[in-house]
Amino acid sequence: MTFETSGGIFVCPICQNTLLRRERSLVCERRHTFDIAKEGHVNLLRTAGSLHGDNRQMVLSRRAFLEKGYYSHLKEALTNTIASYVKNGALLDSGCGEGYYTEGITSLPNLSVYGIDISSRAAALAAKKPNIKGVAVASAYALPVASGSCDAVMNIFSPFCREEFERVLKSGGYLFNIIPAEKHLWELKAAVYDKPYENKLNPIETEGFRFVEKVAIEKTITLPSQEDIAALMMMTPYFYRTSREGHQRAEALTSIDITASFYLLVYQKL
Ligand SMILES: C[S@@+](CC[C@H](N)C(=O)[O-])C[C@H]1O[C@@H](n2cnc3c(N)ncnc32)[C@H](O)[C@@H]1O
Ligand SMILES: [Zn+2]
Repeated sequence: MTFETSGGIFVCPICQNTLLRRERSLVCERRHTFDIAKEGHVNLLRTAGSLHGDNRQMVLSRRAFLEKGYYSHLKEALTNTIASYVKNGALLDSGCGEGYYTEGITSLPNLSVYGIDISSRAAALAAKKPNIKGVAVASAYALPVASGSCDAVMNIFSPFCREEFERVLKSGGYLFNIIPAEKHLWELKAAVYDKPYENKLNPIETEGFRFVEKVAIEKTITLPSQEDIAALMMMTPYFYRTSREGHQRAEALTSIDITASFYLLVYQKL
């Protein structure tokens, strides 16, 4: 169950006070009240509604793809690396999506795992993961999280906000960031584009952090159906930039072997 007695690392987005659980809500001392949805997440976004982030189709196709285990090597490597650095305390998964990678971390002992995502559909799915302490609909650019409350933050294919990650981490806390490597999905790009290009590794801003380690995680995976190829296409950042012909070429594929290649970057807050 999420939010058993309190909001944990989450604070009131209006006055930044601690949140306590009262029946089906989280309440701060100034009585700002946030209802816990039946799925277990809470909306701490200050703007009305949350028509942001990934839409239903994107969330569902990503979930279908991930649940088939194609990226399980990444989940395993991430979980093992985090286990080697963080022995206890609180971990925030910023931009957790439906919680596929978050769930791996919840298997580690002595860690309290929290997630935020700006998409309420994604947050609702993440909140159902067993052992997760709490999930909020929130923006990575204005985390409703107490300063210095986290021993670790993980950020996987979602917006990177250096200032907020630095603020919520304790000094000495770790930041885990996954990025696609140069050759990630190379064969899919070669099949879809006339001139495929390698991913550029844009350096992230890391003021306030010490670089610790870069772990390469790579595997060739076989996608045996058009359905899985279509789901992967939709997960890529270039989905909306692909031409009509490119989409037609992708739709004509019935199976493909692809390189799934990532870097896990580890930083430590100074
Ligand atoms: C490609 S998905 C990755 C999700 C998850 N980390 C995973 O790898 O399965 C990107 C996620 O970032 C979320 N997102 C987009 N903008 C955001 C923001 N400003 N703050 C928090 N989450 C955001 C989306 O809703 C989506 O769930
Ligand atoms: Zn308040």
